[in-house]
Amino acid sequence: APPARQPQAGSSPQAQKDFKDMQTGGVDQDSTCSVTVVGASGDLAKKKIFPALFALFYEGYLPKHFTIYGYARSKMTNEQLRDMISTTLTCRIDQRENCGQKQEDFLKRCFYHAGQYDSEDSFKELDAKLREQEGDRTANRVFYLSIPPNIFVDVARCSSRAASSSNGYTRVIVEKPFGRDLQSSGELSQGLAEHLSEDQIYRIDHYLGKELVENLSVLRFSNLIFEPLWSRQFIRNVQIIFSEDFGTEGRGGYFDNYGIIRDIMQNHLLQLLALLAMEPPVSLAAEDIRNEKVKALRSMKPIRLEDVVVGQYKEHTSKSGVSYPAYTDDKTVPSNSITPTFSCIAMFIDNARWDGVPFLMKAGKALNDKRAEIRIQFRHVPGNLYKNSFGTDLDKATNELVMRVQPDEAIYLKINNKVPGLGVRLDRSNLNLQYAERYKKKEFPDSYERLILDVINGDKRLFIRDDELAAAWKLFTPLLKELEEKQVAPELYPYGSRGPIGAHYLAAKYNVRWG
Ligand code: NDP
Ligand code: BG6
Repeated sequence: APPARQPQAGSSPQAQKDFKDMQTGGVDQDSTCSVTVVGASGDLAKKKIFPALFALFYEGYLPKHFTIYGYARSKMTNEQLRDMISTTLTCRIDQRENCGQKQEDFLKRCFYHAGQYDSEDSFKELDAKLREQEGDRTANRVFYLSIPPNIFVDVARCSSRAASSSNGYTRVIVEKPFGRDLQSSGELSQGLAEHLSEDQIYRIDHYLGKELVENLSVLRFSNLIFEPLWSRQFIRNVQIIFSEDFGTEGRGGYFDNYGIIRDIMQNHLLQLLALLAMEPPVSLAAEDIRNEKVKALRSMKPIRLEDVVVGQYKEHTSKSGVSYPAYTDDKTVPSNSITPTFSCIAMFIDNARWDGVPFLMKAGKALNDKRAEIRIQFRHVPGNLYKNSFGTDLDKATNELVMRVQPDEAIYLKINNKVPGLGVRLDRSNLNLQYAERYKKKEFPDSYERLILDVINGDKRLFIRDDELAAAWKLFTPLLKELEEKQVAPELYPYGSRGPIGAHYLAAKYNVRWG
């Protein structure tokens, strides 16, 4: 049977209907919507996907007629799936309400189908079960590929041939990693394109679903005061920092094949950089935003090895006698592995706005804290009348805008002001927007909630387009090859430390002090 393809937007009644849904941001309440979680027995499904679906149901965002299917090879009954899911559903939205009833209602709509990933027959069986739920309503179907990437194409082929919707949309969410380099990512994209149109593919990067990341464009484009300063004229450097205070525990096998540059930098951090550096888009439409992100990525200068530091954590025993393992202590990691668990890179964007401004990215596991943040350091005030108040260290007087993505979401601006009292003494303080303080009653949705809802509504703004992915790999692939060919040994740093000292030298080379 020929693969069922999604019509291109604007070319068929279905595409027009999709477009209308996109415009209204709503879902046609007469139609049905099913979400099939492929790889339902796995870690991500349990930890993130089912809880996000429940939260959407709880808040009334799922269409009236919805069904959830778990699909994997493991043998499980509907009841066993429900038992498994129920352990991770939380009542985070309103602790006071009895969400037990809601959980029961939700679980009744969850079913399981055991099948192979490369079997059209298995997907035909799933199709029959979905049809039973859908009746004769318009049937919209979402497939969430929460499986290892080597089986993405098998599932795309079998599901598109045997379980595509015949009268509604069929959309497929693809989890990272999308390849290991430009070539493998191109092959994966090509493999998917044989069975799905680009319209149907939703490449997820969960960092784009985080509250603060959504707010980055709002901050830039809806406030008069930032955009005029947003260039080399006023900005001295930008830092994009990710750190975790735990190692690769439990995921060493996966991680050793990828390393921190592929796991965090090529996707999550580069997406933050693209949103921060892009030109103002024509509108908030997905294609307009993604066009600008691609332009920013394509303007980046090739990364030079001398602008890169790699590290790997080694074991450490704390003062109180607790010992923390080295990366290579993980049994699933070869003992001579040189895979980086830390990296720091100085990058440059070769365009009129950013020429010469260092963008420093830093990502590491097993460091001394857990945080993700963007720091924008402004230039010194020319002819600063108060320069003597800061001694010789004018860096202490620079303004800095910090967007703390997690934990404790916040946006703050470091400014100089006078300490109240006689005489003139200056002080650095923060103009501070603490989310927990300002939005006391608000629970922030998990990024998976926002992103799954966007898929249901057909909003692609927060998903990675194929050319964007290619641009990201084009930037990182030569560096990754060079590191591998030259077998660059990572600088070892103790578990729980601030990371390799090399990161400080690299920053100093560009006159940057880490925030
Ligand atoms: P798992 O390794 O838990 O795999 C999910 C399911 O896929 C398993 O339960 C198993 O189901 C099936 N599976 C596993 N290995 C194979 C294999 N070699 N061949 C065929 N089927 C296999 O993955 P996760 O749930 O951790 O992640 C799913 C996807 O999401 C992956 O692409 C991962 O890289 C990505 N991801 C995961 C994150 C996480 O925190 N876990 C974070 C970000 C992305 P069964 O045997 O029942 O068929
Ligand atoms: C995943 C990486 O994409 O993001 C993990 O594979 C990392 O290694 C995780 O731990 C971090 O996500 P978050 O949302 O916890 O910051």
